[in-house]
Amino acid sequence: MVTQLRNVLPAEQSAEVTEKDQHDGPVLPVATEPVGNAGRVLQLDGSECLKIHGSSLAPAAYRVRKCDTGDMATTFTRMDESTAEDWSVIGKETMEHQGRVADSVLAMLRSLAEVTDGFAVDQLTHCLQTATLAERAGADDDVVIASLCHDVGKAVSVPNHPQIAAAILQPYVRDDVYRMILVHQDFQGRHYYHHFGGDPNAREQYREEPWFALAEQFADEWDQIAFDPAYDTLALEHFEPRLRSTFASTRLGVIAAS
Ligand SMILES: [Fe+2]
Repeated sequence: MVTQLRNVLPAEQSAEVTEKDQHDGPVLPVATEPVGNAGRVLQLDGSECLKIHGSSLAPAAYRVRKCDTGDMATTFTRMDESTAEDWSVIGKETMEHQGRVADSVLAMLRSLAEVTDGFAVDQLTHCLQTATLAERAGADDDVVIASLCHDVGKAVSVPNHPQIAAAILQPYVRDDVYRMILVHQDFQGRHYYHHFGGDPNAREQYREEPWFALAEQFADEWDQIAFDPAYDTLALEHFEPRLRSTFASTRLGVIAAS
């Protein structure tokens, strides 16, 4: 299986990584286009020797070390001294730790239980209730998980929370769902901007967008009514498996090997 990291990692981290037979050891990185060494195959075996086409190099001869955690780490101290082999190691390590994205998003969501800011329910309950309403309306998984995460940016900063949430979601959901979250405050404005001089029709600037109807449904039917302490709101655990699945791979390129 070849896992494509291009467009997933920053450009300087892009590399193709292949997964060796899982029956006989760890995933082995393969640099398919290493600079100046086309086709070399790197193997990191149990003795920590690097093998290049059958020739073993002593650890000092290559620039990979094993951390106390068992993870592999490169040793370059400047980007301009890095090699394709270094990036193969980084790509492999990045893929293996992709699960921390879901862990971080879940932690941010849980932290919203401490954020009320004057609303009738805390922000975690609001997010859960929005996702519950979306799910019960028959929304697909991308929309449900985006609904769950739509205000997760409030864990960092309220004024720009839509942009924060949208940026977190962008690699992992469809573009129309990303757009729905990015501008959701302008759609919500229909229901409250008039209280402080804002334009309740701010959403109209997006009228011709193909995702307008979805963003409207999100704001009007789910988000703006999700402040009811008496509503039968589903728990975070209900959504967790789908959240983990959503953040395990990107729409730009598969990260998690399966
Ligand atoms: Fe909201």
